[in-house]
Amino acid sequence: MRREVLALDQQYVLPTYARLPLEVVAGQGAELIGPQGQRYLDFVTGLSVNNFGHCHPRVVAAIREQAGRLIHCSNLFLTAAQAQVAERLSALVGGGRVFFSNSGAEANECALKIARKRSTPNGESDVRGDVLFVENSFHGRTIATLSATGGPAKQAAFGLPLPHYRLVPRNDVAALEEAFRVGPVSALIAEPVQGESGVWPLAQEFLATAETLCRRDDALFIMDEVQSGLGRCGAAFAYQRYGLCPDIVTVAKSLAGGLPMGACIARGRAAEVLVAGDHGSTFAGGPVVSAAALAVLELLAEDGLFDRVRALGARLESWLRRLEEAGKVVDIRRLGLMVGADLAEPVAKHVVAAGIEQGILLNATSDVTLRFLPSFVVTEDQIDRVGEFLGGYLGL
Ligand SMILES: Cc1ncc(COP(=O)(O)O)c(C=O)c1O
Repeated sequence: MRREVLALDQQYVLPTYARLPLEVVAGQGAELIGPQGQRYLDFVTGLSVNNFGHCHPRVVAAIREQAGRLIHCSNLFLTAAQAQVAERLSALVGGGRVFFSNSGAEANECALKIARKRSTPNGESDVRGDVLFVENSFHGRTIATLSATGGPAKQAAFGLPLPHYRLVPRNDVAALEEAFRVGPVSALIAEPVQGESGVWPLAQEFLATAETLCRRDDALFIMDEVQSGLGRCGAAFAYQRYGLCPDIVTVAKSLAGGLPMGACIARGRAAEVLVAGDHGSTFAGGPVVSAAALAVLELLAEDGLFDRVRALGARLESWLRRLEEAGKVVDIRRLGLMVGADLAEPVAKHVVAAGIEQGILLNATSDVTLRFLPSFVVTEDQIDRVGEFLGGYLGL
């Protein structure tokens, strides 16, 4: 890390991020590269953004080609690339219509607006249903998405949640049923696999009950797949591995290979709510991000990808199981290549720091939890290298 860069950051960037002491100047495949050419095996992937590795040649080519022709034109006009991305996303969820955004929070904001509009037929003085959200969930940092983000710690400083947002304890089916009993519900939003809180796949019964109760009460069942979607969990979407059928699916992160893009994909009754003027965004779905997303969606459609993602995840899990047998790891949670491990000792942040020294980038979501989000282009040997590093550090 160059000192002058750190000094500029400290003086001029608002201190909202707990940064790691690492500067990167380039990325290639499964690796990030530092200013002196140091290479880091990246198991963070920009928090599940660079799922096909850094600077994938097909994504880079698509961006270059599009940037030379048209960068921006606004959503007043049509572009083929945006329409084609919408078609592909629609196909991935079995039919739906898309609102494009620039981030995951905005994709969820759109979903919440759809639910809100359905539940306020006579304007804000007549809100007929609450949004239910799950304990320890994360749906974004805007005021509405933070209201639906499941922990008082994140909300309190901002006087949240807003009215009409109610928390449901994670995986508590009885509490879920009670939440639908105590008052009308407009929507339930959940990540099928909670990412930011340390990779918690929600229980099948909990999610299936949520979907059933939403159907019964004409509430919208919203799956936030911003982190878990687009191949990460060994299927196009994690909810598909649960056999669910959401009204709305939100995506972002990996959609445009590292460029900012999100999408709210509304199905059936949820697609009938918004009309011209109800919602919009200047940059969203622009030509360059759309071209990048088309390249990503083509990579996602390649034969055998989901099997490979599952196999890589299983290989990483087998290293973690060995650590579990040795008493160094106490809980392992995984769906596809979205993996979390709780350590027996609160040393997760020390593991991350030691990893940087060894040229390995890992993520700690708390003092005890490591989250692994390697790219899909990672090799078996690279998984083993991380397993060996963990074994060495934790004392296998
Ligand atoms: C499940 C989930 N939803 C929403 C978000 C917010 O996305 P963004 O940071 O792009 O606004 C995140 C970000 O980590 C996420 O993991």
